[in-house]
Amino acid sequence: MNDFYDLILPREIRFRSGAANELPGLLPALSERILFIAGNHAVKSGDAATIIAILEQAGKKVILLSGVPPEPAPAEVDKLIKAGRDNQCDAVVALGGGSVIDAAKAAAALIPAEGWCQDYFTGAKKITEKGLFFVALPASAGTGAEMTSNSVLTDPETQIKQSLRSPYMVADVALVDPHYTITASPYLTACCGLDAFVQAAEAFTSTRGNSFTKPLALTALKKIAHALPAAYKNGNDMDARTEQAEGSMLTGIAFAQCGLGAIHGLAHPCGSLLSIPHGAACAILMTSVFRFNAETCPEPYAEMARALAVGNTAEDFVAFAASLAKELNIPSGMKEYGLQEEHFDFIVKNCRSGSMKSNPRYMTDEDARQILSGLMN
Ligand SMILES: [Fe+2]
Repeated sequence: MNDFYDLILPREIRFRSGAANELPGLLPALSERILFIAGNHAVKSGDAATIIAILEQAGKKVILLSGVPPEPAPAEVDKLIKAGRDNQCDAVVALGGGSVIDAAKAAAALIPAEGWCQDYFTGAKKITEKGLFFVALPASAGTGAEMTSNSVLTDPETQIKQSLRSPYMVADVALVDPHYTITASPYLTACCGLDAFVQAAEAFTSTRGNSFTKPLALTALKKIAHALPAAYKNGNDMDARTEQAEGSMLTGIAFAQCGLGAIHGLAHPCGSLLSIPHGAACAILMTSVFRFNAETCPEPYAEMARALAVGNTAEDFVAFAASLAKELNIPSGMKEYGLQEEHFDFIVKNCRSGSMKSNPRYMTDEDARQILSGLMN
């Protein structure tokens, strides 16, 4: 356990059904022109139109942008920056999944800055002050992106995902309104939900965990394990959606402070190489990596098993994770995404992120190869 830590969080976090209706009152009083970045799904479902109506009724001019691809390249963020500059926007609101919120987060920071996203992504320029006021509304539960101070972007040359990171990038307001997660399909619910489950477990076992993050991570884990199967089976189950949204939010608060683990370390290169959605990659990897970690660090896994009331041992936790993935119809391997032995070099070479460093057990290249070998089914 680490005794000293810094906490970087949104200035205000509102969690309740209906919280999105409070959006106009949370924006700076003098803001007039809002850059609203919405995910494609939120546009199709009509949720984006609802937010636009809420803002327009409050007298705000709304500039809508959508079409952000998963883990976008810096050039995609530049489209948002350009729209914000051209329209002289004075605040940014995002409604969507992790990639939409991450892209909006970077745009809000860089619209009033000099240069373009690539300058900051490569480290040629540094973010030195707060950008535009930024409100994040997650439309999935979830990635936790509304709580973090980084944007996961993809280098178009190498296809490697890496983060643009700054304490100035954290949202001013995170509005977690479970109502906006109702339209997620069962598949999206499963992938995002298991991403949150993994994030909770990795935050709980992180070597950077502390007295603030561990209780949050454990509470989040219990909520997600309880709510996710119900939300998957019946997307209109508002109690399940609400508990899942809270679990995801608490997970985000925790891991934004203490980092993640080897599942996220491996998921990023697997995802970029094989085009596996982030949540699916985490869900497929989780059982093998939990088992690997639990071999030498069983106690936190046994503690999670006891907290979930699924047994007393680390093996009980691993078995529970495997059964949860099966219940949510997650494939047991990456064969359908085309995983081949020839991909291992790329994945192993590019898995050594910050997440890997906070994994409770050191994972050698050979260990990573063995885990990947077990996922070729
Ligand atoms: Fe994740």
